[in-house]
Amino acid sequence: MLEFSDVLAARERVAETSRHTPLEYSHTFSAMTGADVHLKLETFQRTGAFKIRGATNRIATLSEEARERGIVTASAGNHAQGVALAASRMGVDAKVVMPQDAPISKVKATRSYGAEVVLEGVDYDAAAEYAHELEAKEDRYYLHAFDDDMVMAGQGTIGLEIVEDLPGVDTVVVPIGGGGLISGVATALTGKDSDIRVIGVQAEGASSAARSLRTGELVELDAVDTIADGIATRSIGERTFEVIKERVDEVVTVSDDEIAVALTTLLERGKTLVEGAGAVPLAALLYERFDYGEDETIVPALCGGNIDMNTLTTVIVRGLAETGRYLRLRTVLEDRPGTLEEFVGIIAANDANIYAIQHDRTSRNVAMDDAEVELDLETRGPDHVEELIAALEQAGYEIDVLV
Ligand SMILES: Cc1ncc(COP(=O)(O)O)c(C=O)c1O
Repeated sequence: MLEFSDVLAARERVAETSRHTPLEYSHTFSAMTGADVHLKLETFQRTGAFKIRGATNRIATLSEEARERGIVTASAGNHAQGVALAASRMGVDAKVVMPQDAPISKVKATRSYGAEVVLEGVDYDAAAEYAHELEAKEDRYYLHAFDDDMVMAGQGTIGLEIVEDLPGVDTVVVPIGGGGLISGVATALTGKDSDIRVIGVQAEGASSAARSLRTGELVELDAVDTIADGIATRSIGERTFEVIKERVDEVVTVSDDEIAVALTTLLERGKTLVEGAGAVPLAALLYERFDYGEDETIVPALCGGNIDMNTLTTVIVRGLAETGRYLRLRTVLEDRPGTLEEFVGIIAANDANIYAIQHDRTSRNVAMDDAEVELDLETRGPDHVEELIAALEQAGYEIDVLV
């Protein structure tokens, strides 16, 4: 099993390619939770996520012969970029198989860091299968994204930095996809100070670690479904499961809506952009998915900031809707002059601003003499939404809330 000494040994190697990222006290989140919250800003890591640490440590500890053969890996995002940059910095040839529909920004970034990108397969698993074919055909070393002690040890250097910068830390909160990151961090922290709690967080729609811990057996999900694509993994690894069982205190889950709220709150209040996977530790903290005390020193590890701009738009709307700041509703009006004006008059009287409106007289969802209306509104919070809907219903309108 991975040892504390492996993480310590990784420290110097990782420093060759990676930054010691900032740890910042957050007034906003401390005030919101009552805890003493410090954010580990791994979003400022080179390539925008922690993956370069593990990739660097793995490549640095390969035999000369394996380095000469070159490496191959599969990834839909952050691991691809981390491997690409680490390999090119260490003069090793790298081929990265990415799914055919991988976001173009991530494909471009991976190429720009120096790897050859092969687009193959409909999803990560299909890409990984092809990467294994290349491993055999081209005699390359297959660099696993998480189930490898040297990869875990590299990721664990985040844990060393946290205790170094904040020796009094009580709890560290870490996202889990395949479990490489938390295995390394938990090993780093139990080695330094066994009183530090390590909490793992998964998305509800990709909760292999939480389920595996409950059943005691490694659970592989049939499918995953979450906006946090960085942790949309069907199964944690065999090696990571062993470490998690032994060294992680608790694994909890958060919903996509909670992730969206954490992400938008971080953007609006903390001026920090993270991807979905980067927001899950903060979501677990804000929604009290684990117990914590007043003034407990807590570090949510914000592990990546590589979010596709189209995804960001969707997440912001979901986050605003969840906190009552955005409302999409539908109603049916009689199709005669003046009905729309009456309806929007009530909205104006209640101080909601209209972003967009769609008035469809030809909709097949309504009777011939009716029109279907959908509105996107800017609102001020849950109470405002409630008041507005009550006013519309009181005036006789039937309202469906769509978002
Ligand atoms: C931003 C981000 N956070 C967390 C994780 C989870 O890491 P692991 O798969 O090692 O559990 C990933 C994995 O890709 C990630 O990209």
